[in-house]
Amino acid sequence: MTWSKIAGTGGYLPERIMSNKELEKMLDTSDEWIRERSGIKRRHIAAENETTADMAVAASRKAIEAAGIENSDIDLIIVATSTPDKVFPGTACIVQRHLEIENSPAFDVNAACSGFLYALDIANRFIRTGGASNALVIGSETYSRILDWTDRSTCVLFGDGAGAVVLSAAEEPGILSTHIHANGKYEDLLHVPAGISSGYDAVRSEAAFIQMKGNEVFRKAVGTLGSIARETLSANNIEKKDIAWLIPHQANLRIIVATAKKFDIPMEHVVVTVDEHANTSSASIPLALDVAVRDGRIKRGELLLFEAFGAGFTWGSALVRY
Ligand code: ACO
Repeated sequence: MTWSKIAGTGGYLPERIMSNKELEKMLDTSDEWIRERSGIKRRHIAAENETTADMAVAASRKAIEAAGIENSDIDLIIVATSTPDKVFPGTACIVQRHLEIENSPAFDVNAACSGFLYALDIANRFIRTGGASNALVIGSETYSRILDWTDRSTCVLFGDGAGAVVLSAAEEPGILSTHIHANGKYEDLLHVPAGISSGYDAVRSEAAFIQMKGNEVFRKAVGTLGSIARETLSANNIEKKDIAWLIPHQANLRIIVATAKKFDIPMEHVVVTVDEHANTSSASIPLALDVAVRDGRIKRGELLLFEAFGAGFTWGSALVRY
């Protein structure tokens, strides 16, 4: 039987760092409020000419190097993003061109903050059924471009960045299980209303920016992340104590702490980057994974639980033997 495993990780954060103090000068907000309500201290912001594909390429190069393979070994590219470079072609095709890879399938997945887990689920299925041997699975976002920088209830929460993994065919598991879900009835609680088919003019209006009913999203996120974690443990017949590291989507420290508490996972076993990166949507899990792999916290053979919740609503999890 063929399994898939994470062969290498990579991350990229734009050079420019925006602190809460800087936001204090632009908005009626405070460093204290942002830290208390979200745990965020600072975020990275893409340069004017820097795009989602540029960041994806930078993260991918590091993941490919860490996996010890060549660009030409990649035979599938999936980019999870809700901030693509263009309407088409997909950002994955632009990444493919930059990496000088030809002929592999390359496509985007939009599941907002759960996008990376959707992409991982798809790549895992490709590999397990013989459709690919080395997949590049990327989460990359430039949310700074869809933020209303005068709306203090949303703009303080997000940042830009990219994370990538190389998922390779293996004889032993790797990805033990993936679980993805959606419920479109919550569309209006968290969305960017503008789109191409719903009216191009809206792209230049306030409808082009994130709108969120933060309180309602918060409540739903905590409950749903608890149930997806339970679903994952029972599908694999394992107990909470078997999890070495929880790597949650980094939206809000309070959501992360509440989820860890529900699962009796001590915070020392939870990877937290929301303080430094803010919410980078689909990039947040692969970025957090890369940070903890590179600083030596996560070791080969350990059991990891990824989980995410985002617009849609979408949510998902993955149980991974690193
Ligand atoms: N600075 C100062 N005050 C603020 C700010 C700010 N930046 N933003 C809001 N406030 C004020 C509000 O106006 C409100 O004032 P009022 O009481 O006078 O009306 C007060 O602070 C409290 O606001 P709440 O919205 O109730 O604050 P809450 O504690 O709920 O925190 C937050 C808000 C951080 C947005 C939280 O609700 C949250 O994290 N929600 C979930 C976000 C999330 O998980 N998103 C999913 C993923 S994102 C994706 O998929 C794209």
